[in-house]
Amino acid sequence: MYQDKKVVFSGVQPSGVLTIGNYLGAIKNFAYFSDAYHCYYCVVDEHAITVRQMPADLRRRTYETLALYIACGLDPEKNTLFVQSHVSAHAELGWILDCYTMFGELSRMTQFKDKSAKNADNINAGLFTYPTLMAADILLYQTELVPVGVDQKQHLELSRDIALRFNQVYGDTFVVPDGYIAKETAKIMSLAEPTKKMSKSDENENAVVRILDPRDTIIRKFKRAVTDSGSEIRAAEDKPGVTNLISIYGAFTGKSVPEVEKEFEGKGYGDFKLAVGEVCADALAPVQAQFARLSADKAYLETVMKQGAEAAAHDAARTMSKVRRKVGFIELKR
Ligand code: TRP
Repeated sequence: MYQDKKVVFSGVQPSGVLTIGNYLGAIKNFAYFSDAYHCYYCVVDEHAITVRQMPADLRRRTYETLALYIACGLDPEKNTLFVQSHVSAHAELGWILDCYTMFGELSRMTQFKDKSAKNADNINAGLFTYPTLMAADILLYQTELVPVGVDQKQHLELSRDIALRFNQVYGDTFVVPDGYIAKETAKIMSLAEPTKKMSKSDENENAVVRILDPRDTIIRKFKRAVTDSGSEIRAAEDKPGVTNLISIYGAFTGKSVPEVEKEFEGKGYGDFKLAVGEVCADALAPVQAQFARLSADKAYLETVMKQGAEAAAHDAARTMSKVRRKVGFIELKR
């Protein structure tokens, strides 16, 4: 596996319904790597249980997230698509890396601080060590490149630090991964409070556009998007609402900010918001159609899961065996 192509790894949590932020910032880019890299795309259900989940919902969303991967253009024949809990090496390496990660490092993670504030009644140890499990995901496959949204940058840097530390103690064991953060589309903001990231768990439904929202819902949400004072369609720091809409429009059409500004010169906010809604709905229509077909076929999704888990477990075993030897565990011959 590793010899022929460099490795890409990324993961998406099956919690909440994915937003256009997840789509533009991460999943849409995943397919770009399929030819040049050996790609692992994982549904990280073990990460999801760091906040309380309804079991039936978690199961359904795990199927859905896999279906969405495929609907977004990831061919299961060309990519290793799998579910994290199907490959026990993730949890196993996660534990080992816990022992090479400092309390202070984990305490500095902004996502931990945010999530602890939001889930004050359930600040569990898993929420705290979430980043070491993520490091395990990445390091297990000798990953070179990790496409993620900008909010995961800090976790990625920690993964690098853990890899470097381990390598320093035991000699080369892990490839030290790099992040791949798509610049313009990395951060899609809330439509209601455009200085905040668009979050799939936002309680205000109007703030979030979901990949599976029907066309009229998408258009309505964009029509209601908060804009700024003034009337010009121009990206500027004091115009976070309009700036966000410009980057969404640009991301769906492949146009640059100046191109979008030019296209809407002299037009009003109303026309612009409708146009953003339309390009978004148009772009998502084929994804939604494919998703509907796939999610009706659980047996197919299970076949993909099984194939993916077998391939991933096989590849992960090589790293695990190396790690066990390095740390001083006894490997019994079979
Ligand atoms: N923490 C990531 C997120 O919430 C999901 C994730 C888990 C991930 N493991 C990963 C992303 C490994 C990239 C690589 O978005």
